[in-house]
Parts: sequence; structure tokens; C-alpha cells
Amino acid sequence: MGPDEAQQRMAELAKEIHYHNHRYYVLSNPEISDFEFDMMLRELQDLEAQYPLFADPDSPTKRVGGDITHKFEKVKHRWPMMSLSNTYSKEEVVDWEARIKKTLEDEVVYACELKYDGVAIGCTYRNGRLVQALTRGDGTTGENISTNVKTIRSVPLVLKGDDVPEEFEVRGEIYFPFDAFEALNARREEQGEPVFANPRNTASGTLKLQDSSVVAERGLDCFMYQVLGERLPFQTHEENFEYARKLGFKVPSRADKMFTLCRNIDEIMEFVAYWDQHRTSLPFAIDGVVIKVNDYRQQEELGFTAKSPRWAIAYKFKAEKVPTILEDVLYQVGRTGAITPVAKLRPVLLAGTVVKRASLHNADQIAKLDLRIGDRVFVEKGGEIIPKVVGVDLDGRKEIETIPLEYITHCPECGTELVRNEGEAQHFCPNAEGCPPQIVGRMQHFIGRKAMNIEGLGEETIEQLYSAGLISNPADLYGLTKEQLLPLERMATKSVENLLAGLEASKEVPYERVLFALGIRYVGETVARKLARAFPDVDKLKEASIEQLVEVNEIGERIAQSVVEYFGNEQNLQMVRRLREKGLNFESAEDALPVSEKLKGTTFVISGVFQKHSRDKLKQMIEQHGGKNVGSISAKTTHVLAGDNMGPAKRNKAADLGIPLISENEFLEMIGE
Ligand code: IVH
Repeated sequence: MGPDEAQQRMAELAKEIHYHNHRYYVLSNPEISDFEFDMMLRELQDLEAQYPLFADPDSPTKRVGGDITHKFEKVKHRWPMMSLSNTYSKEEVVDWEARIKKTLEDEVVYACELKYDGVAIGCTYRNGRLVQALTRGDGTTGENISTNVKTIRSVPLVLKGDDVPEEFEVRGEIYFPFDAFEALNARREEQGEPVFANPRNTASGTLKLQDSSVVAERGLDCFMYQVLGERLPFQTHEENFEYARKLGFKVPSRADKMFTLCRNIDEIMEFVAYWDQHRTSLPFAIDGVVIKVNDYRQQEELGFTAKSPRWAIAYKFKAEKVPTILEDVLYQVGRTGAITPVAKLRPVLLAGTVVKRASLHNADQIAKLDLRIGDRVFVEKGGEIIPKVVGVDLDGRKEIETIPLEYITHCPECGTELVRNEGEAQHFCPNAEGCPPQIVGRMQHFIGRKAMNIEGLGEETIEQLYSAGLISNPADLYGLTKEQLLPLERMATKSVENLLAGLEASKEVPYERVLFALGIRYVGETVARKLARAFPDVDKLKEASIEQLVEVNEIGERIAQSVVEYFGNEQNLQMVRRLREKGLNFESAEDALPVSEKLKGTTFVISGVFQKHSRDKLKQMIEQHGGKNVGSISAKTTHVLAGDNMGPAKRNKAADLGIPLISENEFLEMIGE
């Protein structure tokens, strides 16, 4: 075949494959066999290898991935990506409708669809081709994960039809279908790797993988729910779906009952009830339904609050609950020594995944449920990853065979007698220095993403290094050498280099995060930040008394006590000294220090979207100049810092209370910038 012929054949093949890909992955209605499809794909791959210059960047062969992204670029959303307000009852839907009726005079039609439990995505198409796919991020700025999204077969790379707008964005939800998720876990189990707990988090993690060929293998899927652009040829949400469908997107339809139009609350509630009952038969997870005003002109009239559109709400389902048998109770020891009882269950299918363990919280919870081994218990999966035991089937219990559970008195890991402080629900193992899961847990906390975020070093490696006798506290990490690491299993030269480089890089982590990384009890991220501001270096903090500590806004007795105790311990002091010698930051950088007292006595509410600085940065600036941030407007508020898209409710409230609204520029003037 000559070059001209090859080029033509490649274009033909690409078109054919796009077509059959759409039939298979979007319409679930293939016309040809998998074998025929694979043959075409292979022919195209071969031609592309032979004539790389003719290879289309949006070729269907791209679906198998291969491109590596080292760092996902941050990109500002053209339209902010907002969230939905939630409701849980018919009454709340009634209230919502009543609010709508106050604004709108004409009749309202409601579009109802599923609320997919996945990860939001915004895809930009230019001249019919996918050019960018952004995560939600903070709603204003997302991360460009295009290379990974391009491997998802139901997301078109090239649109169907000739009449496509020059540029537009389509938004939807990427999710992990249950069967693909179970298959992934089966593969992992086989290879001795830990299994993933839940499809949504795994979808989110998968989209952040650097190697797109791994993403391609996992089988993610995507439903679209919104087309955004200028002068688009439709006027209702229903037409928006039809439009997206014609372009080749996967959207819900009335035929499969995944979408419907309703004229009143009763019809809406019928849709809700139907899906609450039938959701378990779907091949993917949903956590509710979304109700939207169908007419776009009406949507526009209703507008947005600071966070969400007024023309839509999410009706969230109550968590799913299933019965199973309690086989045993195990006890886990956390990094702070806290004991968590965990139920070992007869495996049961819950919200699409097999559940074998569930949290039992603490001794009181077990006593309250009057749990016994062999009981039939009810397990529920809420928003969190670990399911929980929420009830016992007392009627089903055969009394004679069961004895009440006795809570352990000694640590299952190190044998030390447990303590329980007054007023606390949890038992503790006090052997902080000698109890292995506590030692390991502290180091794992230290390297965590929100703490030192050490690249190239994971939780398993910490366990491995501890077992090998190389480390027993965070300071030991910084003394590791190539010679010590190379002989270990799974430690190739490259991974050793990455690990050491990661440790070196962590010396740049700011003081407030180092403080959080230490794992002082009750000192979470926010508290660490407050402490770092009030005591800008660790020596000042070390010497602080309880009285001085509680003077800091929002630091109470309990936290103060814990900080004093931490620095009263010689081993901790020694570790801090060593970490400091290794070059970690134990003082606040200039730009985090208090700057002035210009805003002393002020209380700010920040609302909307800003041009020059992120909301976090603005909050930081307010605090650096002696002001205070709060979440909602009250009589105590002195200023409302108002950005774009600020909701009228807040505006009205500020006006009612006579609180001045100031713009970003006015604010910057106030602090002299
Ligand atoms: S419409 C302005 N429709 O839920 C927001 N969102 O809490 C318009 N979601 O971030 C969103 N299914 O990721 C919409 N059918 C659906 C949805 C849906 C899931 C997610 C979406 C959004 C979050 C809102």
C-alpha cells in the first residue's frame, strides 16, 4: 500500500471504529462482533506504526492509553463548577418548589434524572474534537486530566454529525461500573495487592493516575448531563439531552426510565420512589436523583446562590441497609493508640460491593446494640468508606447459644492494659513508644498527603522499613541510605532514588504542615495552622503554657493539654530536634506571618468567585491582617467580601443587617495592597 492509499485507509478505519465504538459503548447495541472490531483496530494500529505522520491525535487507538502525565495542569473553568443543594424528604422538595413558584409565574415542568455517584468532569470540544477534560477541583479551577479521560470509551473523541458548534463544554459524571470494579479487585486480590473499598473513590483515584494505559484497562464509564456554550440550539433540559445524544454522548433516556418530565410534586416523588427501590438493579452506583427546572429561560430567571443553582436540587437516598451474620469482632489499634472494634461479617453485597468488615465504633456502641457473635446484624453504607453495623435482629437470636461480648481489657497488639479517659468513648493503648501499629501509624500519618506528602514513599513501604528494623520514628526516615534500601524487596534503584528525592523535597514543606505531620493528638490541619500562626516557631510553641494556648482563637483546654503533654515528653523533643537538624521547617515562612493589625476587630464573610486571589488566599490575608473569617452572615459580621455570583439571599441578608459589601479591589485597598 502506498502512502496516499494508507492515509485514506487510516481515515476510513478511524471513522468506522469511532462509529462501532459508539454503538458498543454508548448505545450498548453493537452491529459487529468483538473480533471484527479488534481486527479493524489492529489494522489501524499497524498503519499508524508504519505511517506515524498520518496518525490522527484523536485516533480511536488512543483508547488504550499510553500517554503519561507527570503533573496535571491546573486550569480555570470557563463556567464555575457548582454543586447541588441536597434534600432528604418530600417536605424539602415542597419547600423548594414553593420558593421557585415565588419567582416564576408560568407553569413549571421538572426534569428528573439519576444522581450518579462518581466524579464530575467538564469536557471541552473544539471543532468537534475533545480538547480538554477538567476535574471539578475547587469549582473555580480544575485539573486537566484529558489523557486519562480519552481512554474512556463512552466519551467521544470526535463528535458525530457535521453541524457541531465551534466550541462548547459538556459536563457529566465519570463512574466505575460495578462489574469493572469487582473485576479490578479480583485481579488485585490474585496479585496479592490490597483491594479497593468503594467504586467512587477508586474512580477518582484512577483518574489521577499518571499512566493512562492503566486507566484504559480499568473500564471507567461516563454519563453526560449538561451542555454549556454560547447560542446553543435548545431551550430545555430535555432538548439538551437530545442534542448531546446526537453528538454521540451517553445520556439517559425516557425509554430506560432514567429520565422523565414531571408536572408536580407527586410525579417527582413517584420517580424518586421508583429509583429508591430499583437502584440496586443498576450496574453502577447512584446516591439519589436530581430534579431540575426543564425550561432554560426559567432556569436563568431563578439563577444561582453562591454554591448552587436555584433551579435544581438533589434528592439523596437514605443509605442502603442489608442483613448478614456477625462472625467475630476484631480490634484495630490506630496511630494514637485508639482502639476501634471492627465486625468481621459473613460477606454480603451492599451498594454494589462485597462487604466483609464494618465499624463498631467503640465499647458503648457494642453494649448499646448488645451484640453477640452469630447475631444477624444490619449493615449500612453511608457517605463514608467503611460500612457500619447499625442494628441487631434480636428476634432471630437463639439466647442459649450466645453470650454477650466482653470488650478487651488489653491491647491485642502489644498486650498493654488499656485505659479509657473520663468522658471519652474510646479505649486507648497507652504504650505509645512500644506498640507496633502506633509506631507505624505515626510514621504513616507523617508521610501522608496532607502532612509531609512524601512522594515515592507509601504506607506499605513504611511497614516494610519498620519490619526491616530501619525506622521507628519519622526522624529515622531522613537518615536512610541507598545502601540500606537497595537490598530490600521491591526496591529497585529507581524507586530508591525517588524515595530519597521525595524525602529531600519534603524539607520544603511549610511549618504548619510539619506541625500537623507530628501527629499530636487533637492537632488536625486547621489547629496546626492556627498554632503555627500564633507561635511562629516551634520553640515558642514548646514553651507555651496551657493559658497561652487557650488564648488562641478556637483552641480549647483539651487541645492545649495535649500540646503541652506532647512537648513534655523527652522522646518527642528529641525527635523534633533531630528533624530540625535534618532541615525540616520548624518556623513559619515570612508570607504566613502576621502582617498588620489593620483588620483588627473585623469579622468577614467571603462569598462568590474572585478574580485576583483564591478564596483560601483571601482568608489567609484577612487573618494575617488581624481579621476573622466566619461562614455565614450575622449581626456580628462587619464586612462581606463579595465576588461574582454571590447569591441574592446573602445580599439581602447583608442589606437587612446594614453590613457593607466590599469588592476584592476595595478589600486589597483596605489592607494596602
Ligand atoms: S447537575 C450546578 N446532574 O452532583 C451543578 N449533577 O452536588 C449541576 N451529579 O458536581 C450539576 N449526577 O458531579 C447534575 N444528573 C446529574 C448529576 C450530577 C451527579 C454530581 C455532579 C455535581 C454534584 C452536585
